[in-house]
Amino acid sequence: GSGREVRHFLDLKDFSAETLRGILDSGAAIKRARVKGRQAAERPLTGKTLAMVFDRPSTRTRVSFDVGMRELGGDTLMLTGKEMQLGRGETVADTARVLSRFVDAIVIRTLDHALMLELAEHAEVPVINALTKVSHPCQIMADIMTFEEHRGPIRGKTVAWSGDANNVLASWVHAAARFDFTLTVAAPEELAMPPALVAWAEREGARVTASTDAYEAVKGADAVVTDCWVSMGDADEHFRHNLLSPYRVDAALMAHAAKDAIFLHCLPAHRGEEVTAEVIDGPQSVVFDEAENRLHAQKGILAWCLGEEA
Ligand code: CP
Ligand code: NVA
Repeated sequence: GSGREVRHFLDLKDFSAETLRGILDSGAAIKRARVKGRQAAERPLTGKTLAMVFDRPSTRTRVSFDVGMRELGGDTLMLTGKEMQLGRGETVADTARVLSRFVDAIVIRTLDHALMLELAEHAEVPVINALTKVSHPCQIMADIMTFEEHRGPIRGKTVAWSGDANNVLASWVHAAARFDFTLTVAAPEELAMPPALVAWAEREGARVTASTDAYEAVKGADAVVTDCWVSMGDADEHFRHNLLSPYRVDAALMAHAAKDAIFLHCLPAHRGEEVTAEVIDGPQSVVFDEAENRLHAQKGILAWCLGEEA
């Protein structure tokens, strides 16, 4: 139809700081309304249907999009690539065109970032990135919300990453540029940030530093973040464990962060690997607030992608 452009949510780097802030504010407002038990009164997505295409396992992303869409008044449809003709060779472009005739938005989790981009290119409805091998933007929207609830405005603060410079970290890099905070990254050389990501951060003037020293990265940080050592689609499990064990977040590492630093982890976690039980189950950990905020942040994303307002 006529009117505004299709509002995809593919990567944080695609947005202005103002748009991202607006989405977070709207998610926070919806969260406050829910706490007051008013969510039933405001159902802005009534009559809309969200297709969720999941090619990989998910607990948080899948459930939070499903529940979030329903709480906003909409319906959801769960699909897996294997059950679709996509799994038998129907093109991504045709899949996008057909789904666009039935549903109002598409959430997709696939390791194949190019496939996700191709789907968005041919879809006439919003496409939302629910994790690819390259990035995980919805996660970091929830993480920023969580940081700010516990530590105030993230602007000017320092977030430290210790571990594999993976898809989750890539979205943190995008966020550092847009939300204007410092990101200090410690990763082994073999699992460091991709050069294109480093170049992007430099072009954007983002305050992102890279080292191989977890203690250096974490020093004085307001938040310490890590993720699993073996992501979906990764091979070489033993190689990764050997490389990443110096980056485990334990009490000794946390002691180098600011006194009131929080610990974030997108989950699922592996106690004794990337983080000790003492840290993830300890007083500085806010990982379950973080998981809950997937719901609230994504309601802001859904409302932005699907809402009627300009
Ligand atoms: N953090 C996250 O995306 O979790 P799921 O894989 O369970 O969706
Ligand atoms: N880096 C992890 C995140 C899981 C939510 C993965 O890609 O498997």
